[in-house]
Amino acid sequence: MTGKTLLSSLLHYKCRQKFYSTTKIKRFVVPDELVPWEVEFPGYDPAYYTATDGKPWADKNIGDVGFQPKWNAQDGDINRQSLTKTYRITQDGYPLNPIGRTGIKGRGLLGRWGPNHAADPIVTRWKRENNGDKEIKMDPTTQKPVLQFIGIQRRDTREWAIPGGMVEGNEVISSTLKREFMEEALNLLEKQDKNPEEVKGFKKEVDKLFEKGEKIFQGYVDDPRNTDNSWMETRVFNFHDNDGSLLDKITLEAGDDAADVRWMDIDNKLNLYASHSKFLQLVAQKHDAHW
Ligand code: BGC
Repeated sequence: MTGKTLLSSLLHYKCRQKFYSTTKIKRFVVPDELVPWEVEFPGYDPAYYTATDGKPWADKNIGDVGFQPKWNAQDGDINRQSLTKTYRITQDGYPLNPIGRTGIKGRGLLGRWGPNHAADPIVTRWKRENNGDKEIKMDPTTQKPVLQFIGIQRRDTREWAIPGGMVEGNEVISSTLKREFMEEALNLLEKQDKNPEEVKGFKKEVDKLFEKGEKIFQGYVDDPRNTDNSWMETRVFNFHDNDGSLLDKITLEAGDDAADVRWMDIDNKLNLYASHSKFLQLVAQKHDAHW
């Protein structure tokens, strides 16, 4: 296996499982070495699936009257540019997944043909010993300090994940990161009417914490909803509360899209949604923490 083939096959792990995401639709089996489009695969005949009960803002079908997307460009409010590379368009007008085959055609469960942009906030603090003097917990094996992050359990796949979400229209990334964190991990949208004073206080803490973020990753995500013509990309930022003083003042509560929320230890045994474990490994490396 060449370096390039290995990279593609690793990137397409979660989006080459037997069934397409949460559906019963079978993906066409794509062996590792046949993931890249450059390698010919004469018998490749994947099923076509585009959800019809999806989001009201979803793209129309390719070829529909009045649907004239501008590929690889800013298309009005919609960013159809990839963070990965210029993607190709097939002869019949479908954008092609920049990493390669996924075993399914169509828009699948995603809202946009081509890239679908998300943003992911990794909020971290040091794990403390339980002795009240705020001593940082060291891992007995690696002898390195243990980091914790705020994780949510997704409602769709029930997997644990970073509380990220879709960039809405031409929203700036910093707003998406804050909005998603406050909605999913603090449930501030729901709380707004019931407890506006508490919400105000939490927002102040989040504003302070989100002032200094560090970019950890940007690009393609191995998301189970990816198809040959539609895929997820994200920008991941780390917001680290070094002395824990800001995060001590907020209470976690799962929002609408989340079934649960909690502080999770960052460790190489984490098995999270899409490529999220990889992002946490990068965060651990950045802080020279236990992994
Ligand atoms: C999630 C993000 C994730 C992205 C790509 C979005 O639905 O909210 O956390 O990174 O999908 O997998």
